[in-house]
Amino acid sequence: MSQTIADLIEQRFGLPATAGREVPATGTVAGMIARRSTRRFETRPVAPEMFDVALAAALSAPAKSDLQQASIVVVRDPAQRAAVNALLPSMPWVASAPEFLVFCGDNRRMRCIAEMRGKPFPNDTLDMFMNAAVDAGIVMQAFITAAESLGLGCCPISLIRNEVERASELLALPQGVFPVAGLCVGHPADSGRLSMRLPPAITVHVDRYDGSDFETELAAYDARRAAREPTAPEKQRDVARFGRAEHYTWSEDKARQYAVPERHGFGPYVRGQGFALK
Ligand SMILES: Cc1cc2nc3c(=O)[nH]c(=O)nc-3n(C[C@H](O)[C@H](O)[C@H](O)COP(=O)(O)O)c2cc1C
Repeated sequence: MSQTIADLIEQRFGLPATAGREVPATGTVAGMIARRSTRRFETRPVAPEMFDVALAAALSAPAKSDLQQASIVVVRDPAQRAAVNALLPSMPWVASAPEFLVFCGDNRRMRCIAEMRGKPFPNDTLDMFMNAAVDAGIVMQAFITAAESLGLGCCPISLIRNEVERASELLALPQGVFPVAGLCVGHPADSGRLSMRLPPAITVHVDRYDGSDFETELAAYDARRAAREPTAPEKQRDVARFGRAEHYTWSEDKARQYAVPERHGFGPYVRGQGFALK
């Protein structure tokens, strides 16, 4: 029998699966389980119609209270694109992607509407900020799902938030608008790498949250993942500070990654964009 959804689930999690054993590995769900981020692109452009279809699908995503608080900046002008690329030199796939978009949370429209309609807006809360951020994230993922189902490849770029002030200025983001992530889009030049996910035993809880087996499950995940996706010794992070690990695992990598302060400017930037985060 050809591949089934269960086969794809096994590959994704590195664990035996029974769900989807009778279901052929085709269609949207198969594409979602087998997907991977693309960091190598062909030079050929994305057909404008295909791009516009993906945009329409993205903007069909659900939105909190129908407020539709996402905005997308498509960076097209070559000089503008070069300036955005220059903010992100450590990720050369940004410059090589035929298309680059920035997905933004947008609370500006809501604030304008309150003013236009002569109504108070007593909701300058952290929740309001989160609604806009979540809307933008959902729209970005809807774009990715649509683009990938059309044969395109994508890579989200939150690194743009490392340079948030400069990016915001370049993209002329007004008060109430903030970048959530960039997105590289193009035709994939390779098949990428399937990244193993944490097991449902860690990420799915029934009836109430239960993290009691976290350490055991994590150790097993680390071992499974290191066996399938070993990290080359030269790819270990911050060896000068933490030494070279004999068994370099996902959790060691993530602990090292976040042992370095990152994006402490984002909070002040967001407040500067007019969010009180009450
Ligand atoms: C919000 C968000 C931001 C991301 N930022 C970056 C980034 O700045 N650079 C990058 O190369 N990948 C970025 N990624 C891609 C992740 O690294 C990738 O999704 C993860 O490693 C899992 O791999 P996969 O997408 O191939 O399954 C981002 C993904 C998300 C969802």
